[in-house]
Amino acid sequence: MSDIDSPPASALQRTDRAVFDLIEQEKGRQRLTIRLIPSENYTSRAVMAATGSVLTNKYSEGYPSKRYYQGQEYIDQIETLACERAKQLFGAEHANVQPYSGSPANQAVYMALLRPGGLVMGLSLPQGGHLTHGWDVNFSAHYYRSVQYGVDPETGRLDYDQIRKTALAHRPRLIFAGATAYPRIIDFAAFGRIAKEVGAYFAADISHISGLVATGEHPHPFPHADVITTTTHKLLRGPRGGIILCRKELASKIDRAVFPGLQGGPHNHVTAAIAVALAEAATPAYREYCARVVQNAQTLAQALLDRGFDLVSGGTDNHLLLIDLRNLNLGGRPFAAALERAGVVCNYNMVPADTGTPKNPSGVRMGTPAVTSRGMGPAEMMQIAEWIDRVARHPEDEAALAAIRKEVAETCRQFPCPGLDVD
Ligand SMILES: Cc1ncc(COP(=O)(O)O)c(C=O)c1O
Repeated sequence: MSDIDSPPASALQRTDRAVFDLIEQEKGRQRLTIRLIPSENYTSRAVMAATGSVLTNKYSEGYPSKRYYQGQEYIDQIETLACERAKQLFGAEHANVQPYSGSPANQAVYMALLRPGGLVMGLSLPQGGHLTHGWDVNFSAHYYRSVQYGVDPETGRLDYDQIRKTALAHRPRLIFAGATAYPRIIDFAAFGRIAKEVGAYFAADISHISGLVATGEHPHPFPHADVITTTTHKLLRGPRGGIILCRKELASKIDRAVFPGLQGGPHNHVTAAIAVALAEAATPAYREYCARVVQNAQTLAQALLDRGFDLVSGGTDNHLLLIDLRNLNLGGRPFAAALERAGVVCNYNMVPADTGTPKNPSGVRMGTPAVTSRGMGPAEMMQIAEWIDRVARHPEDEAALAAIRKEVAETCRQFPCPGLDVD
């Protein structure tokens, strides 16, 4: 495989050989390994072109037509375009595309809707939630109070009766739904009812599943949620960034929280790339892609179940799966490391009712967005399951891992990477 033409890359090669070489090595890694981290993907060449554009040279604190710097005639149009595309794709009344990433987007929601010390309720990190949903090492539990809900230890699924009871007992002012490691459909309508009953704002963080929501593969948080947040770089296949969507009534609170509340100048190069990714996500090809992501995850899940792996909740409805390794007597961390030596890259993860620790948990998390972007399908998912199984049987046999790595690289060579090898 050879790189498609990239003039900025050759300028980098001339001016900074060290950085150029490291990027080239990273390209090789992305090409020749099976990338199963569910929050990663391959962006298109167009998204990368916008990210690497002259827009990085421009300051534009404020919002379109309300800036604190001159020279905004094109920047305003770019940001407006990104907002309009976000509103269209997600059926939202208002969009803010300036958050630097997913965590800052969530931070802005807190700043807009809660007073310092106000009570937030979110899914706990060890049970699949995100740090910013009130986990104790995060700002969301330092500057706010937090009560956490979990999943049913038997089923691995959200238990909405239990969530309602927790909400009634604690009366949070803000409820977060959404997850970083939850393989099932989230009932946003149920969260909306609970939030209404206790008088809380309801924020849906769809960072992981925004593509599934946009394409109708999964239920939409609107009209149940007051606010939706999402990263733009996971399934959505954009640059690293964040978006907040909300009803008109909350628009100025949200906007003021992002700027000047938390941030200065927006990253205009990222805003442009978000606009490009949103246009790509509105195409039939992207809808088909998202459907294939789920099919691939389900094929991989079934193939792993058939080989004796224990999956949290017994399978998946989305793009990711969580393997509980306790029945195999393997730790999540050493298993993820052995898989990486075999060319299969995932991440170690807590599982519900984990007996391990965050640094040494009992599970691994895997997802299909990146491999599906390369055009891999059911046959490759079966093959990947077989590699994972072989690694599980011989996690310390370096010759066996090296042999798998060779097979992985051969398969990867047949599937060009978007952005690297094809547009
Ligand atoms: C559900 C969820 N929300 C927010 C984030 C934060 O995104 P970022 O890492 O861009 O700050 C993540 C990232 O993994 C996530 O999974």
